[in-house]
Amino acid sequence: MAEMFQIQASACDALGSRFYGVLLQRIAKDILSDGPSAAVLAGHEDDPGPSALALRLMGAVHYLVLTGDAPDLAAHFPSVGGDGDPVRTWPALRDLFRTAPLELAAGLHHAPQTNEVGRAAALFGALLHIAGPDPLPVRLFEIGASGGLNLRADRFCYRSADGHRYGPLSPVDLDPAWMTMPVSAPGPVHVVERRGADLAPIDPTTPDGAARLTSFVWPDQADRLRRLRGAMLVAGQYPVRLETCTAAAFVDAIEPVDGHLTVLWHSVVLQYLDAAEKVRLADGINRIGSAATDLAPFAHISFEPRRLTAGGVRRYLVTAETWSGHGKVAEHTILGEAPAHGMPVTWGEPRPDRVRPAPDGPQWPA
Ligand SMILES: C[S@@+](CC[C@H](N)C(=O)[O-])C[C@H]1O[C@@H](n2cnc3c(N)ncnc32)[C@H](O)[C@@H]1O
Repeated sequence: MAEMFQIQASACDALGSRFYGVLLQRIAKDILSDGPSAAVLAGHEDDPGPSALALRLMGAVHYLVLTGDAPDLAAHFPSVGGDGDPVRTWPALRDLFRTAPLELAAGLHHAPQTNEVGRAAALFGALLHIAGPDPLPVRLFEIGASGGLNLRADRFCYRSADGHRYGPLSPVDLDPAWMTMPVSAPGPVHVVERRGADLAPIDPTTPDGAARLTSFVWPDQADRLRRLRGAMLVAGQYPVRLETCTAAAFVDAIEPVDGHLTVLWHSVVLQYLDAAEKVRLADGINRIGSAATDLAPFAHISFEPRRLTAGGVRRYLVTAETWSGHGKVAEHTILGEAPAHGMPVTWGEPRPDRVRPAPDGPQWPA
């Protein structure tokens, strides 16, 4: 267990959170000396790596900070205006392990459930790529939607590193969302229906839902916090239907509709589905595709980690496939690549692998 925390500490450091990097190293040492964190984590010694125990623990801690139940820690957590000094944070965190073991142990049951707004850059950019200059009204469906924030992706502002802008002025300003614009002249996209599914949907418009979504963002990642908070404001204005449902069951109920482009998209979800559900999902997507017509086209967009070569490193690729009356129009095209949190996207063929494969494990961003 201590080793898992050390691995996650290095990953947090590498992914831009020195605050969690230092704190998770302290917790690893505390576990080895049978300190108060070990008591909170009792029973989880054999949890599998990808269940990300360290992130679940820090999510539980951050949730107490956000809900006002850990004021001594709040003085140090940058997400609530604290000093961001992990060395000064540690004594208060160790005290919390002693004083709130039951609350923290209960929090360990929440899987790290991010709703990363930066991934809208990949998903919505792909939609602009395939929608063409005069797109049909869009019916948007998302599996593993978490809080459904990216179902409002058309209400965000996107900027490209070469100085262009797309979308309305918005509390979510993704800058740069893209290295270059997705297509030379994207037409306006009108989303007329927004529906999502998740095993455990979170309502971002409630105080508890907002705290839960925020708790899984690392507290010193100011850009991610800013876009999450912006998206929660947008969520209050544009309602979506979120169902408690498996990905495959949700897709089974989707049909193309005349006069609309039906879009199914997802980001960083496939790794959580078992083999049987993955097969059922692929069958469901093909079924919708074969029911598509020229009047009722269908597109499947994804932003998921994949290997370009057998045994190669996992890369976060933006892909799209489209169907119309002529059957499948575009086969699993790789449109571009982005960092794990979705921005900035580099459009075009991904570069060949240059780095060694990373081992599977809890260092995956959720
Ligand atoms: C890492 S989060 C990603 C959320 C969001 N798509 C994003 O990119 O920010 C994975 C989400 O998938 C959901 N999930 C996991 N297994 C699922 C399943 N079998 N069916 C539907 N949702 C699932 C989880 O509850 C979680 O909200």
